[in-house]
Amino acid sequence: MDYFSNRRILLIDDMPQIHEDFRKILVGNSAESELDDVEAMLFGTKADTSFVGFELDSAYQGQDGMEMVQKSLDANLPYAMAFIDMRMPPGWDGVETTERLWQLDPRLQIVICTAYTDYSWEEVLTRLDTRDRLLILKKPFDLIEVRQLANTLTAKWVSGQQAALKMEHLEQIVQERNSEVLQANRLLENEINERKLLESQLIQSEKLASIGQLAAGVAHEINNPIGFIFSNFSTLETYLERLFEMLTAYENAEGHIASPSLVTEIKNLRERIELQYLKDDIPYLINESKDGITRVSKIIQDLKDFSRTDTAQQWEWADLHRGIESTLNIIASEIKYSADVIKEYGAIPEVECMPSQINQVIMNLVVNAVHASVSSRGQITIRTGTGNEQVWIEIEDKGSGIPEDVLPRIFDPFFTTKPIGKGTGLGLSLSYGIIQKHNGHIDVSTAIGRGTKFRIILPIKHIDNDCHGA
Ligand SMILES: Nc1ncnc2c1ncn2[C@@H]1O[C@H](COP(=O)(O)OP(=O)(O)OP(=O)(O)O)[C@@H](O)[C@H]1O
Ligand SMILES: [Mg+2]
Repeated sequence: MDYFSNRRILLIDDMPQIHEDFRKILVGNSAESELDDVEAMLFGTKADTSFVGFELDSAYQGQDGMEMVQKSLDANLPYAMAFIDMRMPPGWDGVETTERLWQLDPRLQIVICTAYTDYSWEEVLTRLDTRDRLLILKKPFDLIEVRQLANTLTAKWVSGQQAALKMEHLEQIVQERNSEVLQANRLLENEINERKLLESQLIQSEKLASIGQLAAGVAHEINNPIGFIFSNFSTLETYLERLFEMLTAYENAEGHIASPSLVTEIKNLRERIELQYLKDDIPYLINESKDGITRVSKIIQDLKDFSRTDTAQQWEWADLHRGIESTLNIIASEIKYSADVIKEYGAIPEVECMPSQINQVIMNLVVNAVHASVSSRGQITIRTGTGNEQVWIEIEDKGSGIPEDVLPRIFDPFFTTKPIGKGTGLGLSLSYGIIQKHNGHIDVSTAIGRGTKFRIILPIKHIDNDCHGA
């Protein structure tokens, strides 16, 4: 329907004569010229020959009127206005009919026609509540009044529609702008997050690099003294063996000493210095010290293996089990008070990777597993295996598990459920980035109160995504 030229009018009146009169006034026929004459006389205008008639429908009771309004709406041909008689026995009166019609179509402009004052108009207006769509026409009325009301109110309906349309259009523009702003905000937020992530990765890798350099420096400095201490201990051991040999010879010779006072002196001295105890304890002390030194050099080797400062960050074939072992040694003090580690290693081939970064991932996952095992002594199982040109590593704990609402966010940078100072929320996001760089996957399965399992899958051979058709 053309909403901008709606001239559809509904007349609801129980008197057939009224319908005839309205038809003459509004629909444009021979009576029209008579009306034009009246208008010319009243307003001093020339008779209007361009009168555009209205489309007038008739109903004789409020209920019929309501049905017609419903039908007109269903057919998308709404009425612009309705003339409604106040008294229409036996059915609804004008006020009730108006109420009902507005429930169906609140846009409808209504003129209530009445000769009676059986309602107080104040009461009617309060009851109908909406005053700007309602006019009251008192009988007897002039023909020109009816036509002018029809002209004005249908035009008002059209203006209302136009305004509503404009408003809708404006709202749409505002909504579009809003969603553009939202979109821009989202992009900005993503960019900020990306930058934060890059920054944190940079900080982390700088940290790693400086830890690595420190470790390499310390390892280098300690390696030399440890080397000579260890070799000195071995020499000392052989010297002591010789001294003990000499001592035994002296002891054997004691029986041949003639001076009894000298014999007593030697005996007292032996007892005072607990010679037998020294002879037993010295080899033990030497062995224990050698063990200690071996352990120190192992720790240094682990530090070097973990940070791989002897090689630049580059792709190389590495034994993952060795990486796991050195990582476990580095964090041994963190693990030993809270959990037991069970190793179920499979026979896996070497993997082309950046070993120190994979070590970093293992460390993050194991430390998380330790942190999750706070309520009782934990059990962390580390499994490895291979298949389909891939190697997998599982790190499973029997800890708290991850709640459903936390799970989707664990790989987000800076997401942590740990108290300030205990977690930065970067461990998993960095690990995720590292595994992605290796063209691998990291999966998680978890059950509240039963524990969590992270599974890393890595391709055995590195696929270089930066090489195009080399
Ligand atoms: N094994 C696990 N069991 C239970 N929750 C876990 C486990 N691993 C990770 N989470 C949850 O995921 C969150 C994010 O882990 P992530 O390693 O990224 O950060 P973090 O451990 O809190 O801090 P950071 O590792 O930077 O010190 C943790 O705070 C924790 O809520
Ligand atoms: Mg962590």
